[in-house]
Amino acid sequence: MGNMKKKIKLFDPYVTTKEEKYLLEALWSHNWASGGGSNFVNLFEKKFQEYLGAKACVSVNSGTAALHIALSAAGVSGKEVILPSLSFVSTAHAVLYNNGKVRFADIDPETLCLDPDSVKKQLTSKTKVIMPVHFGGMPANLKKLGKLAEASNSLLIDDAAHSAGANFGGKKIGSMGAMSCFSFHPVKNLAMPTGGLVAINNENYRKVQKLLLSLRWCGITDRKGVDYDVKEIGWNFYMNEFSAAVGLAQLSVLDKLNKKRKNVAKQFHKKLNMERKMPLNDECVYHFYWILVKDRSQFRKKMSKMGIETGIHYKPIHTMSMYKNNAKLPVTEQVGKQIVILPTHPNLTEQDVSKIIECTNKFC
Ligand SMILES: Cc1ncc(COP(=O)(O)O)c(C=O)c1O
Repeated sequence: MGNMKKKIKLFDPYVTTKEEKYLLEALWSHNWASGGGSNFVNLFEKKFQEYLGAKACVSVNSGTAALHIALSAAGVSGKEVILPSLSFVSTAHAVLYNNGKVRFADIDPETLCLDPDSVKKQLTSKTKVIMPVHFGGMPANLKKLGKLAEASNSLLIDDAAHSAGANFGGKKIGSMGAMSCFSFHPVKNLAMPTGGLVAINNENYRKVQKLLLSLRWCGITDRKGVDYDVKEIGWNFYMNEFSAAVGLAQLSVLDKLNKKRKNVAKQFHKKLNMERKMPLNDECVYHFYWILVKDRSQFRKKMSKMGIETGIHYKPIHTMSMYKNNAKLPVTEQVGKQIVILPTHPNLTEQDVSKIIECTNKFC
């Protein structure tokens, strides 16, 4: 009876006493902003850089901020950015924050990540950035997209919000392309109260790192003691010590938690009856597991009655009033009507997973 009543949440961060210990350390250090005190922000940046094998990393206070300053550094003003419409709206907002132009390309029906053939059709002389999203932790085809970026003299900047710990071709997402933008929002695979990070792999990475450090803190540069200069506009985007404290604890178990997510996805893939579902890929970190269902609203109602929370990720961005245009994205549109997200978080028990499978098969 108790188990029947227990709600299965769609997302739920994994917490241990390590987060508590680090948080208290940050609290009593009396230094809550970046730097000084326990120095968790710098430590997190360094450890995450090592984990990824990236050339440099700059932490910020959200995934949205990471996308914002990465595209600012790329110089997209007056230029075009090609991105999927099946994403959180920040992916597109980041282009507009920087006075760039959004060009949506369609997605691959298997992976729901950017389809390189569709991207090819969107390339123009104004293309500056190709920006894939690793949807649900599934790596986009960085090889083909990287070649398109190279051939069109544009940059590959990935929205890696769902993919902390994922790989492509045996290499960590965040160690390839020009820049990768991570989110550490509480629902993400690596969770913080708020947080984000830009991993930099450009050839001139030191210059880009210096620019991003300035962009994340009001444009402040050339600091010598108490003296500094401001040459261009920047934002107040720096990460705080509490977020970094939680992130550092989460990073130490990221691979273990991703393994749990993969194990849940394996069971879903094997036991769910529907035809269209998230494929199996050992390099994916299954931020969530997607399925396509015919009558989504009925399905979600029935699941909710059984205490299982599901989600819709996402209503395609090009269907929002602000972004409506004539883009023809048939795969995105069909997926946008039928997609349902199931939980894969590390707090699910074996009973929870069995219940999700049983109910999904019954109600879909
Ligand atoms: C694909 C994608 N991009 C960007 C973001 C923005 O991240 P944040 O919420 O940390 O600003 C999110 C998550 O919220 C996301 O899912």
